[in-house]
Amino acid sequence: MTTVVPERAGLLIGGDEVDAADGGSFPTYDPSTGEVIARVAAGGERDVDRAVRAAEAAFDAWWPATAPRERAALLYRAAALVRTRADELVELDERTAGLPTRMAAGDVETAARYLEYYAGIADKLHGETIPLGADFVDYTEREPWGVCAVIPPFNVPLQLTARSVAPALACGNAVVVKPAEQAPLPAIRLAQLIIEAGAPDGLINVVTGTGPQAGAALVAHPRVRHITFTGSLPTGQAIMRGAARQLTPVTLELGGKSPQIAFEDADLDALVAAVVATSLMTAGQVCSAGTRILAHREVAPELRGKLLDAVAQIKLGAAHDGPDMGPLISRVQQERVLEAIDAAREDGARVLSGGGIPGNAPAGYFVEPTVLGDVTAQMRVAREEIFGPVVAFMEFSDEAEAIGIANDSEFGLVSGIWTEQLSRAHRVARAVRTGQVFVNHYGAGGGIELPFGGYRKSGIGRAKGLAALDEYLQTKNVCVKIE
Ligand code: NAI
Ligand code: MG
Repeated sequence: MTTVVPERAGLLIGGDEVDAADGGSFPTYDPSTGEVIARVAAGGERDVDRAVRAAEAAFDAWWPATAPRERAALLYRAAALVRTRADELVELDERTAGLPTRMAAGDVETAARYLEYYAGIADKLHGETIPLGADFVDYTEREPWGVCAVIPPFNVPLQLTARSVAPALACGNAVVVKPAEQAPLPAIRLAQLIIEAGAPDGLINVVTGTGPQAGAALVAHPRVRHITFTGSLPTGQAIMRGAARQLTPVTLELGGKSPQIAFEDADLDALVAAVVATSLMTAGQVCSAGTRILAHREVAPELRGKLLDAVAQIKLGAAHDGPDMGPLISRVQQERVLEAIDAAREDGARVLSGGGIPGNAPAGYFVEPTVLGDVTAQMRVAREEIFGPVVAFMEFSDEAEAIGIANDSEFGLVSGIWTEQLSRAHRVARAVRTGQVFVNHYGAGGGIELPFGGYRKSGIGRAKGLAALDEYLQTKNVCVKIE
């Protein structure tokens, strides 16, 4: 039935597709049906070592010899190839990551835009000169780390791989990607396109496999000079501990429990549309999902009504049939989300909509879009990232209380503020402890240009925008004595 999903996929090391050293492989599933659709090489320590050495050799040869504009040209060609192959990549995302057609198309387009965005800066990475008086010339150079490890999650696999790989390559690094084991094929395809665009052998390598095997081996490798990880808080903490042994610097983009704050003058229709699109139709599988809806008491009933009406319209279905909302990535995630909903019930929350597996659901990993009411700040559902289509509805009486609830979280990734009052919007934007704040909208079309990262336990460092470049460069100062 499908055309673009290969039956088998190997590792990508030094420009070649190879089997894992021990011959191991693991299955990958279509989340819409639960069927095994491919087997993928299960890399381990030896494979990681080969990939890192290939990357290091490529880095040693390429970076000193390559003009910045050639790095830009490579990334522009890769972006063009992603666009040329968009149909194929969309199908791959639908079949392997369970992304509904519209989201899959967004994932492909956003991946292309990351490649272009960082292509555009590759030849504009300047150092500085520092005046020390007549006796010296002093300048800085911005240099790549060498081999960068990139460990993305499953949810939007093309853009989250491109988001780290593009700036890493733009800055002159080589990369080894360890894709998420639930949906590794899109990242492999992206790497193949970068190679087709002219990347020298070894500049980008992919070692598929599990987190504890391939991922942990990559984190521990002494020749990996930087690690970018996107995923859960506990895994981020494990990676940071692993990286400490070699003192490898890390960029971590972890979870969130992002608030959407609706003041009494909020545009409720716009807010509902944003919540439905970003927190529910994505099956909640995005780190920036605004999962705590804080409503001023005056508008809470109307907002709740509008939200429930909109949720009732969401059509679930197999990703490739182009539904509003697709499945979760795996059986494990489905069970985890259902457990979180049960825990919310136990804690006293009320299920206003959804709350289980949809009746007449296909065999895949579906959970209904779920709205929970009577949620208080101490409940688990208000504190823990669920990564499912579940939003918690809470109420407040004034601005100070709204800010208090918003900041009562160990996370601090994104906030949404909905008000017509200019001063209040700016006041609250200052007061919330999150790395991004959106006022009267949510997301800015993917926000490729906007620095993105967490306060508190939502992470370390920044992805996206020019800010991400600081993660992939180190500064060398050269001080010359003049006779
Ligand atoms: P995870 O954080 O465990 O996995 C993400 C990536 O890290 C995958 O590529 C995985 O193979 C790798 N990994 C896992 N253990 C590793 C280790 N010890 N060393 C190196 N790499 C390792 O997330 P998972 O298991 O997919 O999902 C579990 C929960 O994590 C979700 O329910 C959700 O709450 C959260 N999550 C959050 C994401 C976000 O963007 N905020 C993205 C994905 C998951
Ligand atoms: Mg895990």
